[in-house]
Amino acid sequence: MEKTEYITLLVEGKEIRLPVVVGTEGEKAFDISQLRKQTGYVALDRSLMNTAVCCSAVTYVDGERGILRYRGIPIENLVETHSFMEVAYLLVHGTLPTPEEKRNFSNLLNVNSLLHEDMRHFFDHYPRGAHPMHILSTMINALAVFYPNVDSLSLNEDIEISTARLISMVRTMAALAYKKSIGEPVVYPRNDLSYCANFLNMMFDSPVAPYRISEDAVRILNILLILHADHEQNCSTTTVRTIGSAQVNLYATISAGISALSGPLHGGANQQVVQMLREIEKDGDVTSYFNRVKDRNDPTRLMGFGHRVYKTFDPRAKIIKKECHAFLEKMHIKDSLLEVALAVEKAALADEYFIERHLYPNVDFYSGIVYRALGIPENMFTVMFALARLPGWIAHWREMIGTETKIVRPRQIYVGKTWQNA
Ligand code: CMC
Repeated sequence: MEKTEYITLLVEGKEIRLPVVVGTEGEKAFDISQLRKQTGYVALDRSLMNTAVCCSAVTYVDGERGILRYRGIPIENLVETHSFMEVAYLLVHGTLPTPEEKRNFSNLLNVNSLLHEDMRHFFDHYPRGAHPMHILSTMINALAVFYPNVDSLSLNEDIEISTARLISMVRTMAALAYKKSIGEPVVYPRNDLSYCANFLNMMFDSPVAPYRISEDAVRILNILLILHADHEQNCSTTTVRTIGSAQVNLYATISAGISALSGPLHGGANQQVVQMLREIEKDGDVTSYFNRVKDRNDPTRLMGFGHRVYKTFDPRAKIIKKECHAFLEKMHIKDSLLEVALAVEKAALADEYFIERHLYPNVDFYSGIVYRALGIPENMFTVMFALARLPGWIAHWREMIGTETKIVRPRQIYVGKTWQNA
């Protein structure tokens, strides 16, 4: 019989034994779920800085060593040899697809790529200038009205269709929102194109200037999407798991994840980075921006820097930086913001403030420069992140539905008025 390890906690003179849980990579936790029952105490952990909220087999992050693996496979390997579609399959299903599974998944994506024509008209009524992330979250919520067969309790065949619909249709929605915003005719998805080529074609093809799909553009987009595809219990994924635990349908759940992602401290950072770099370029150097960042009374942060988990280089940022250089060079694109970004990174890595706090470039620092080079407008950067993160959110939702039955319901410590002094 397996031996269970315990940690002993001394609470008001009484010894409490808490079971130890050890992950497959050796991470240790002690289970406090019975603590209140045994002692009357709850654990207080503001912003969940030190709490594992679930056991998950989707993604492994080692923030000290800068490691990121999906289903056990390092991201460095995945970007070299796999497509975003294969990685989406890997995240959702747990293994890379066989040739037959790949064909079936690809077919499912193709048959679910068209947006319902009635939904298309929604786009006509959003105000000009509405942020595409807000449009996207409302459109995804609306999917439950058009496709109501998404029962959160059953992992039946509908779930495969809903998964494919989200991964495929959100790409169509994103491109459509862009075309609408610039007043151009909509370009429909094509079954003969790969996921990334299809997206680029829907974004940039026009009746007067057919888009020539560049292999290099497809390759780098594929890399970016793979690198953003999952990142274990980040804010939006935790949102998805939390909302999903109330047995909300998958579309409403993903819509909530998108809202969480839109925040500037989360996925919204990629858009803010470019705005910041432009501001620093205008100033001529980083000094005044850094002074603001270091001023405790000023909320300014160095966008694209720092991470709750990584206390070293974000492995995604390393790959994006290298690929960004190579892509711009190959396409003969000169972007002064890349020079600014390199100078900012160099200055930050040599500055005591950032060194002391272990602040390094994160995934958002260089991604915007690649998106600019691809011709993607700034207000679409976070949409690109959302597009990429869909397989991750879906994988976590499916895992949660399959393994956890209890609604997420944290405790609090009440510090308001008491009845006696109300
Ligand atoms: N610029 C300046 N100071 C920072 C930054 C930053 N980007 N990040 C952290 N710090 C400081 C912070 O002020 C604090 O200093 P002190 O100890 O003196 O009070 C210390 O470093 C620890 O920071 P924290 O706020 O406790 O760290 P956190 O784990 O709560 O926050 C973070 C993580 C990502 C929200 C934060 O680093 C940040 O705001 N970064 C900028 C926004 C950004 O790039 N977000 C994208 C994150 S990666 C992709 C994603 O998740 O979507």
